[in-house]
Amino acid sequence: MCGIMGYVGPNQAAPVLLDGLQRLEYRGYDSAGIAVLNSKIHVRKAEGKVDRLLELTDNSPLSGTVGIGHTRWATHGVPSDLNAHPHTDPSGSIVVVHNGIIENFYELRDQLTAEGHEFTSETDTEILAHLVARAYDGDLVAAVRDAVSQAEGAYALVVMAVHEPGKIVAVRRISPLIVGLGDGETFLASDIPAVLHRTRDFLIIEDGELVIVDENGASIETIEGAKVDREPLHVDWDAEMAEKGGYDHFMLKEIHEQPAVVTETLGGRLEEDGTAWLENVDFDDEFARNLGRIWITACGTAYNAGMVGSEIFRRLLRMPTSVEYAHEMRYADPLVSEGDLVIAISQSGETADTLAAARLAKERGARLLAVTNVVGSTLSREADDILYTRAGPEISVASTKAYMAMLIGQYLLALRLGAARGLSDPALAERVIHGLHTLPASLEELMHREAEVAEAAKRIANAQDVYYIGRGLDYAVAVEGSLKLKEISYIHAEAMPAGELKHGTLALITEDVPVIVVLTQEALYDKTVSAIQEVKARGGDVIAVAYDDDERIGRFCDTVLRIPRSNDLLGPVSAVVPLQLLAYHVARIRGNDIDQPRNLAKSVTVE
Ligand code: G6P
Repeated sequence: MCGIMGYVGPNQAAPVLLDGLQRLEYRGYDSAGIAVLNSKIHVRKAEGKVDRLLELTDNSPLSGTVGIGHTRWATHGVPSDLNAHPHTDPSGSIVVVHNGIIENFYELRDQLTAEGHEFTSETDTEILAHLVARAYDGDLVAAVRDAVSQAEGAYALVVMAVHEPGKIVAVRRISPLIVGLGDGETFLASDIPAVLHRTRDFLIIEDGELVIVDENGASIETIEGAKVDREPLHVDWDAEMAEKGGYDHFMLKEIHEQPAVVTETLGGRLEEDGTAWLENVDFDDEFARNLGRIWITACGTAYNAGMVGSEIFRRLLRMPTSVEYAHEMRYADPLVSEGDLVIAISQSGETADTLAAARLAKERGARLLAVTNVVGSTLSREADDILYTRAGPEISVASTKAYMAMLIGQYLLALRLGAARGLSDPALAERVIHGLHTLPASLEELMHREAEVAEAAKRIANAQDVYYIGRGLDYAVAVEGSLKLKEISYIHAEAMPAGELKHGTLALITEDVPVIVVLTQEALYDKTVSAIQEVKARGGDVIAVAYDDDERIGRFCDTVLRIPRSNDLLGPVSAVVPLQLLAYHVARIRGNDIDQPRNLAKSVTVE
């Protein structure tokens, strides 16, 4: 996720900005830049790490006491010197940095292009510089307001104007923004750790607010112009805690980011009537109509997301869809042929096995669609179509928010294909569309139930083996839940379709063996309950994940982790959250290194 810095004060701005950007490195980025205002706007920016930017500014120093800075995590346009922020308007009188996504980017760019504007980068950010410059008539706040009223999306924007030296104007629309209050100096940043060593007093800018920073400090207004009084927050976290946003681990922070991630992944892509606008997905309706088969290929958590996806495609499109481990598919001489769609899912876009399977599919004439989190990754460069999941960098090795974004991406793809081919069950699709729009709120609600999950974790923290069961989509989620537990708690865990238990594994169920059961599929409910009875009869301890209004489940299970009511096709999206939290709390009780589990790597770029 991009990082933002700003400085107004008596000292040289460049060293403060560069230092802040280095402290934001943990957010992940691919290029960096700063702009300092000193009668003119001077910009230095470069692809790569802040070290490269430091070299640039060493060779060509910047002098001035007001400036803005940025680390970019690509969303529109590959990582490059040109796409790095800051961006100016052509006259060089307005400069901006920005974090987040402008959803109506294409529309705005077409409009501006028709008016004769020319752009030097592929970014949505540059549009903002043009919009502010176009509206500017001597009042930067008014011009920023005007630009923001046109730019839809979730973002934070920071702007300076050459004609108003000593001032920075910033806006928060969902993406985070904070102000650090120093002694005679003021800092802007996207996150507290950037300036925690300089001040402990902060103003947290809220969604829909605009802040003006100048020599007098900071004043906050709503975007519409109403004055806002905000008490500063005094922070006594240490720097490491601050990086994690106050959470003890990145994994927990990332779990809690999931409601916002769903908003990002959906951002500007799904209309109320179900039309899905997927930038970089370029196949036409004819291709979608003639499509014979969908293949999904991936590894690890991405494969588990594909398991859910294959069921989504089958149920919404009645399309033959198979999901294959990439390391199996690449050696299996698969029956992929021309006219097929192969969806390769990979958070990093660099997993060696996934790339190999994707290349094989292309050689066989299939169309390759990448579902990936990283713009400019190898997979995205090789694919015909790309669906960026927009989860932001994921630091914890055990994936949570990236998985969530992969699920949402696949619902969008199914709806996009369905628009061309027809949906098998329009009423179900309608419920899914509605459910996707309300999902961030119900995931937010789920986050407040963490204490119950932490309590349940105590029941399995000393187990040797844990089994996860479910049917249909619940089985797919059970597989992801069991993987989370294995990865970070080091407890042996295994998932299986609930109906399979009695064909062997039941021999292993004793009173020391917890069984986690997922129950979101209404049509399969009674069948799954039979499996629960089989476990109970052998003394097993059952923990269920079930809907709030499921009144029957309490009769069969000792512990129930509740999730908000949803429709069957979306149920798994909520059901995975308690399973992620359960794994987290078990690992925590066992004192494990949660963010860096033993023997595992975030990205496996070898065969
Ligand atoms: C590694 C990671 C997993 C991840 C898998 C696939 O094994 O530890 O968390 O799911 O790679 O990674 P990808 O980047 O392709 O999604």
